[in-house]
Amino acid sequence: MKEIVLSGIRSTGNLHLGNYFGALRNFIKMQNENRCYFFIADLHSLTTHPNPENFHENVKTVLSEYLAAGLDPEKSVIFVQSLVPEISELYTLMNMWSYVGELERTASFKEKIRKHPDNINAGLLTYPVLMASDILIHRAHKVPVGKDQEQHLEMTRVFARRFNSMYKVDFFPEPAAYNFGSELVKVPGLDGSGKMGKSEGNGVYLVDDEKTVRKKVMRAVTDSNTSPNAEMSEPVKNLFTIMEIVSPLEKVEYFKEQYSAGSIRYGDMKKELADDICKITLPIRERILEIRENGKYLSDTVINGTAQARESAAATLKEVKKIMGFKSFR
Ligand code: ADP
Ligand code: TRP
Repeated sequence: MKEIVLSGIRSTGNLHLGNYFGALRNFIKMQNENRCYFFIADLHSLTTHPNPENFHENVKTVLSEYLAAGLDPEKSVIFVQSLVPEISELYTLMNMWSYVGELERTASFKEKIRKHPDNINAGLLTYPVLMASDILIHRAHKVPVGKDQEQHLEMTRVFARRFNSMYKVDFFPEPAAYNFGSELVKVPGLDGSGKMGKSEGNGVYLVDDEKTVRKKVMRAVTDSNTSPNAEMSEPVKNLFTIMEIVSPLEKVEYFKEQYSAGSIRYGDMKKELADDICKITLPIRERILEIRENGKYLSDTVINGTAQARESAAATLKEVKKIMGFKSFR
């Protein structure tokens, strides 16, 4: 049997290198061998109260960027979360077997309440339940995501196990967070600390033009340390981490040697880094601009993908309800 692979992204802004290398690229590589589902998590994006005027456009933007980066509607089922109401129904059911204590302990929830104390909505608390519903509704085995999603995947496994043991069934597989290099990836930002993120303003977007990419990379935070064998500061380590992801190994080694010798010129390193990022992102940017204009391609993709996703989702939901004791009145 083919393995089921699933991943999703919130429709909250343009895709950046973190999204691409953390999740998308792994998914794209898996399209040929597996049954693959990819969706846009527009319901999840509601936790931050987006403006209704931009809501639909954001979904289209993310969709175009995904397709441009290599998602293939001939190979994968591509859909929009809110168009599959079975997910929301499973979420309602799953809320009955997830506990407030464990949700309150989730790292992403704690971070959100620290950063946005004015908007601690219940959707934030139950975010992992909705995410688990996304995954379990297709009974997925592998979920390509970045390192920041590891805990959500662990919780999904807990919910799956709990259902199986509560109802004494072997129904849900336990899905694994997945990355080809085995370790999940965290792409750092260009501002010297933390991960690259949409809301952090520290990223290179796939849609950025060449000038913007170069400007962002040249401005990346470094340090003024030039003594041989000095301990590497966090911002410089981050720059090397990005280089390890986008550049050939020899280039990384060359600059590491330069660093150890105390003769590194960050300007040279950044120029090489910008070249290598451009090689990856500029062809994608071109396709984004084309696809964004092709409304028919976008709507055909979603309509066709959503029909397939609903079929799979309805089959799971039917089984779950049967196991839980729902019966028809007919
Ligand atoms: P963002 O953090 O930019 O808002 P999302 O939360 O929608 O993006 O994440 C979508 C996918 O991209 C997830 O699988 C997430 O793990 C991955 N991702 C996001 N940022 C990074 C990063 N800096 N490094 C690795 N993966 C990332
Ligand atoms: N929570 C994920 C993120 O912020 C997005 C997401 C929602 C997701 N549902 C998912 C990812 C299901 C993988 C599988 O990145």
